[in-house]
Amino acid sequence: MADAAPFLEITNLTAGYKRGLPIVQDLSLQVAGGEVVTVIGPNGAGKSTVLKAIAGLIVIEGGTIRLSGSDIVCTAPDRLGQFDLSYVPQTANIFTTLTVAQNLALAARRCRTAPQERIAAMQELFPDLSDHRNIRGGGLSGGQRQMLAIAMAMIAEPRIILMDEPTAGLSPKASQDVLKVVRSIAEDGVSVLLVEQNARLALGISDRAYILADGRNQLDGSARDILNDPAVAEIYLGGRRKGAA
Ligand SMILES: Nc1ncnc2c1ncn2[C@@H]1O[C@H](COP(=O)(O)OP(=O)(O)OP(=O)(O)O)[C@@H](O)[C@H]1O
Ligand SMILES: [Mg+2]
Repeated sequence: MADAAPFLEITNLTAGYKRGLPIVQDLSLQVAGGEVVTVIGPNGAGKSTVLKAIAGLIVIEGGTIRLSGSDIVCTAPDRLGQFDLSYVPQTANIFTTLTVAQNLALAARRCRTAPQERIAAMQELFPDLSDHRNIRGGGLSGGQRQMLAIAMAMIAEPRIILMDEPTAGLSPKASQDVLKVVRSIAEDGVSVLLVEQNARLALGISDRAYILADGRNQLDGSARDILNDPAVAEIYLGGRRKGAA
């Protein structure tokens, strides 16, 4: 159940890859505790750039990014764990030459307490990973890789996870499985800020959504309202659903 107070609060963010050339402009966005919030929008809209800004990877020219009330702008990416934040980038999110067990052990180095217990907890949460513990990351299916990346992000018990297109390149079944896991993470009280191209599927497991275009807020609202708005569906969700009135 979502907690009404915003855990992540972005206000009037302007950020980009080069000073003076902002990609994201005047963007505001909030994620409450235990909420799944999806960011959708056309290619090049700036969705991944928003996540990189929160993760401390690019130049912030204006605005604030608060986690639990603390401003994290200017925090080095490797120190964001102290604010209970994990980031799962779209690619290169696991070590392909290491086994599943080695990937989890590396991620567990960020655990504050009892890394072995956290590894065991992740193997329980993702039984398929446990079955493949001695397989190298490069030998996993796309869905298993994403599950491993999510497990590595979850291991240090974050309060919020940023995920960039976890279903990219996956089959419809694997996409559904990954998004089911995302929903279950939120049910346990962890907030998720999700970027997805697979907009309908993502909205189906989200509480709220933001639509971005040209690096700016276009629209936001409950995921259900956005899914059911015919004008939004026409412009941003690839037309009406088959069989919809
Ligand atoms: N490393 C970079 N250096 C300079 N510009 C970049 C860089 N990465 C992205 N951009 C530019 O920033 C803009 C937004 O890109 P971004 O990757 O955030 O879009 P997106 O909404 O995630 O798109 P997609 O749906 O294709 O993933 C684009 O114009 C892109 O060319
Ligand atoms: Mg992107």
